[in-house]
Amino acid sequence: MVNEKKNQKDRILELLYNAGGETLSGVRISEATGISRVAVWKHVTALKQSGLPIDSRPNGYVLSNPEDLLFPFCFEPLVRDQIHYFQEVETTMDKAKTLAREGVPHLSCVVAEHQTKGRGRLNRKWVSSKGGLWFTLILRPLLPPPLVYIYNFAASLSLSLILNQLFDVDVSVKWPNDLLLGGKKLAGMLSEMETRGDMVQFLVIGIGINVNNDPANKEFKATSLKNILKKKVSCKQILTAFLSEFQNNIQDIDCQNIINQWKGQTSTIGSRVRVETFDSIYEGKAVDVDETGALIIEDHRQKRKKIIYGDCFHT
Ligand code: BTN
Repeated sequence: MVNEKKNQKDRILELLYNAGGETLSGVRISEATGISRVAVWKHVTALKQSGLPIDSRPNGYVLSNPEDLLFPFCFEPLVRDQIHYFQEVETTMDKAKTLAREGVPHLSCVVAEHQTKGRGRLNRKWVSSKGGLWFTLILRPLLPPPLVYIYNFAASLSLSLILNQLFDVDVSVKWPNDLLLGGKKLAGMLSEMETRGDMVQFLVIGIGINVNNDPANKEFKATSLKNILKKKVSCKQILTAFLSEFQNNIQDIDCQNIINQWKGQTSTIGSRVRVETFDSIYEGKAVDVDETGALIIEDHRQKRKKIIYGDCFHT
């Protein structure tokens, strides 16, 4: 019964979405779906209460901002099959892991409007209010665990490329996988994996992009696309472009090639940095990222240090 009700709501929403801004009367919705007019009214009321932008007009109902929606039916058919949409979750990371354990295929994507327990790297809280794009990719790489890092580099590379293309901005990547715009954090990435024996069972890469939200992160200077562009932009457009670019970049993935392209997008190499690892702090000039994704920094005596994991700050 609960599922049946949910499906009826989704059907009404899809109908309003496909109406492309046209007002649909309760009678038309009822005829098209076979749902009684009273039930249509009840479902629309519930959809509105859940925060969906449906306007009631004297002659029916209209979806006011269809471009903001991320329901699977909003995407092109091939992408649609990849999307697992939730209005609210604790974190897309845990949803993705549950789905991965249940066997969803490589390149499935869990997206949520809002996360109540979004998490960042090093166990930080990741504030995930409405308006941002919060999603986790489920990947099943045929690689041993030490090599999966390359997927993170492919993801940050892909995201910076498509954001620059779509919005004519100057997004750069800060080692290892943060995206910066105007020196402030625009997006962050978190990856987790499960292994069985020597093999990767699945890898999940969570990506948080400040799109139409006002990031209020106390730990970082953060910005959003809306803050920079002074207008709202489409999360659906970003996600569609990202999935396509990422899929292209991981086909026949070649570590050296990904790292070389990534170096073309980074603002870390050449910057003075402070890198905090679990047990030390290193300062110097970032001079390279090697084919394993490690950051090479040089101190004032030209002594080089290779760092494989840490929190990097441009100073
Ligand atoms: C960081 O920079 O610390 C990483 C932030 C990663 C945030 C994303 S939002 C989608 C996914 N779900 C989470 O809880 N975290 C990641």
